[in-house]
Amino acid sequence: MAFCDSPLLMKLLIFIVLSIVFVTTVSSETQCRNFKSIISFGDSIADTGNLLGLSDPNDLPHVAFLPYGETFFHHPTGRFSDGRLIIDFIAEFLGLPLVPPFYGSQNANFDKGVNFAVGGATALEQSFLEERGIHFVYTNVSLSVQLKSFKDSLPNLCDSPSDCRDMIENALILMGEIGGNDYNYGFFLGKNIEEIKELVPLVITKISSAITELIGMGGRTFLVPGEFPIGCSVAYLTLYQTSNMEEYDSLTGCLKWLNKFGEYHSEKLQVELNRLQKLYPHVNIIYADYYNALLRIFHEPAKFGFMNRPLSSCCGNGGPYNYTFGRKCGTDVIECCSDPSKYVAWDGVHLTEAAYRFMAEGILKGPYAIPPFDWSCLSSEIQNNGSSDIDNSLMDN
Ligand SMILES: *[C@@H]1O[C@H](CO)[C@@H](O)[C@H](O)[C@H]1NC(C)=O
Ligand SMILES: *[C@@H]1O[C@H](CO)[C@@H](O)[C@H](O)[C@H]1NC(C)=O
Ligand SMILES: *[C@@H]1O[C@H](CO)[C@@H](O)[C@H](O)[C@H]1NC(C)=O
Repeated sequence: MAFCDSPLLMKLLIFIVLSIVFVTTVSSETQCRNFKSIISFGDSIADTGNLLGLSDPNDLPHVAFLPYGETFFHHPTGRFSDGRLIIDFIAEFLGLPLVPPFYGSQNANFDKGVNFAVGGATALEQSFLEERGIHFVYTNVSLSVQLKSFKDSLPNLCDSPSDCRDMIENALILMGEIGGNDYNYGFFLGKNIEEIKELVPLVITKISSAITELIGMGGRTFLVPGEFPIGCSVAYLTLYQTSNMEEYDSLTGCLKWLNKFGEYHSEKLQVELNRLQKLYPHVNIIYADYYNALLRIFHEPAKFGFMNRPLSSCCGNGGPYNYTFGRKCGTDVIECCSDPSKYVAWDGVHLTEAAYRFMAEGILKGPYAIPPFDWSCLSSEIQNNGSSDIDNSLMDN
């Protein structure tokens, strides 16, 4: 008792334990695997058409309209971008088909991938967030609902329990990004940062339990993204605009305190992933550092082909960041900038295909997957995949 009553000693011990966990697992290596499919859970960052599929045809979401999808697909697909998402670039890199949305697509072929990510989805249950005064209407398909859909659909996805285990074992499981909306809804409703920070351990526990459950079902490789640098997000820059220049990072123009929050979530998530990795040494749990994979664009936009200070959205209607709350791209704003590939921000909240492509390459080819992927067992064709100009410019670093 006396031992635990000494807070300083306790803190010191926790620090030592955490340091050991950190040091030992950062050195863990991934095993090269020839993934046969992608199984995805998350929100709009990875939604390839689920929110659209779940929608009432008489009340379609704004992503059902152009200019969504104008790049690459040339029509709206339900993706929250002008074109492809990170998950699409991962699929292309692996030589797999783009991952079809599960909801609302009865006839799709899920042999090589299935996507449960729904735009607006939260890590925590809608009812739980409501109890905390965080109300939202977009969707109630939280992470546990997505996981339940996956389990319920297994009889249609694979033929026998051993076949299902096989499928899950050979899949790259994309766990997120999820949790961003739990925070977004809180921030956008004016909750203060302390209240929102209280959600962080709860969100991370949700992500962790989902991974644990999937490990029990045979899951072997998880790619788990952290939070974005939300201080560089157009919606946040607009909402928290201030004349106090000290709140902005002078190099990027991003809001420092919000980026700190992104780092806070991401650090806590990594600690938990390291704990899981130790617990399940036969599994590869890879952290996808979305935060830094994106932040480097804001540090050197021109070097990577983006415009200077890429802090205004492509599909918007004026204001310092070309964004107005309540005026949605697709329904209220139907114009967009002439060259989305120069922009990072697409609609104020989501990014352009150009930004997502850049992030995906940073994850697949390093250094933003921790530990990095090992592609040595794949054909040289795939190994050389994605060695575009972007990679060459990265090598110059
Ligand atoms: C990667 O390789 C696969 C198979 O060779 C190919 O289908 C795919 O288009 C390539 N992806 C990229 C991004 O080059
Ligand atoms: C989610 O909302 C739908 C439609 O409003 C409702 O039918 C369903 O029961 C809800 N699901 C959960 C898990 O709350
Ligand atoms: C703002 O959005 C409009 C409409 O989508 C676009 O035409 C314009 O180029 C954007 N402005 C800036 C400064 O990015």
